[in-house]
Amino acid sequence: MSAQSVLFIGGTGIISSACTQRALDVGMDVFILNRGTSTTRPAPEGCQQLTADVSDEASVREAVAGHEFDVVADFRAFTPDHVQSRLDVLRDRMGQYVFISSASAYQTPPQRLPVVESTPLRNPFWQYSRDKIACEDLLVRAYRDEGLPMTIVRPSHTYDRTLLPFDGGWTVVDRMRRGVGVVVPGDGTSLWTLTHHVDFAHAFVGLLGHPAAIGDSFHITSDEWLSWNQIFAAVAEAAGVEPSYVHVPSDAIAAADPDWGAGLLGDKAHSMVFDNSKVKQLVPDYVATIPFARGASEIMDYYDADPARQEVDEKMNATMDQLVDAHRVRAS
Ligand SMILES: NC(=O)c1ccc[n+]([C@@H]2O[C@H](COP(=O)([O-])OP(=O)(O)OC[C@H]3O[C@@H](n4cnc5c(N)ncnc54)[C@H](OP(=O)(O)O)[C@@H]3O)[C@@H](O)[C@H]2O)c1
Repeated sequence: MSAQSVLFIGGTGIISSACTQRALDVGMDVFILNRGTSTTRPAPEGCQQLTADVSDEASVREAVAGHEFDVVADFRAFTPDHVQSRLDVLRDRMGQYVFISSASAYQTPPQRLPVVESTPLRNPFWQYSRDKIACEDLLVRAYRDEGLPMTIVRPSHTYDRTLLPFDGGWTVVDRMRRGVGVVVPGDGTSLWTLTHHVDFAHAFVGLLGHPAAIGDSFHITSDEWLSWNQIFAAVAEAAGVEPSYVHVPSDAIAAADPDWGAGLLGDKAHSMVFDNSKVKQLVPDYVATIPFARGASEIMDYYDADPARQEVDEKMNATMDQLVDAHRVRAS
């Protein structure tokens, strides 16, 4: 059994846009709820737009009035207050609430790999992750105590053509193309998992309305594991350059830029690879088919198509200059 009607809160975002399209492709009645302001990924033909701002609960209540959904998939909940607000408004109108959590909620650094869904949730480094854990706790309690039909989905790093996988985004490609040193955190050998949003959506939509998904949690990732050196190389190849790399310890990056450092020490500096058997049990035809080499070409085509997209972050650029200068290995 799968869902007939689904509401995506979000629906035109990096991840949710592919989910909207996939749900339409498999024949669901698709509603999206957002402010209607994002233009990067226009809502696909065939979905029904509900307009509201989730920070204004009354506007959400008004937008969903008269509707009932087999599934509500919430891409815009980051704290327990957000989740509670959704339950207050939608509880009697939905058959399943799917909360989009984050794989950064898993124990960081991980004690054992690959990560499975029973890996403990603990991230002392990142408030965003702790808030997602608090959301999950609320939902697990509501399932246990009141039978709330909820499902938790933890995406890991999931991208579309707009998202370069680096802190600093285009700034890194600009440095590659200018031939100045490119900062690679650590020694570049830790492993990372990058998932294309179309692959994610395939598995995700398979969980919607699936009775065995109720009360449970799943991550959805690619099975391709890459070192950061390989990720930088894939982007450089797509950009048509052979950059010079400067490896910089993550704690030195954290000292130079605490925000960049928090995202490394609390997330990207640790090898993260995932066992996807659990979601594959429920969605047996799920297999990630898009390697990052192809994703990197899509990303570069998107940025090269319009120079207005090529924004350099000058502050980040200056930090990178400093780090390159301090850490470049010079021939003696
Ligand atoms: N990408 C990743 O690697 C990753 C990893 C782990 C977890 N996640 C989780 O994935 C979710 C993000 O999903 P996403 O990538 O699809 O979305 P996104 O790109 O972050 O969000 C944009 C979507 O949300 C809508 N939106 C933004 N502010 C809104 C508001 N105040 N009220 C109503 N709608 C609003 C936008 O439309 P309008 O602007 O038109 O309103 C658009 O549809 C988050 O919960 C995040 O924690 C992402």
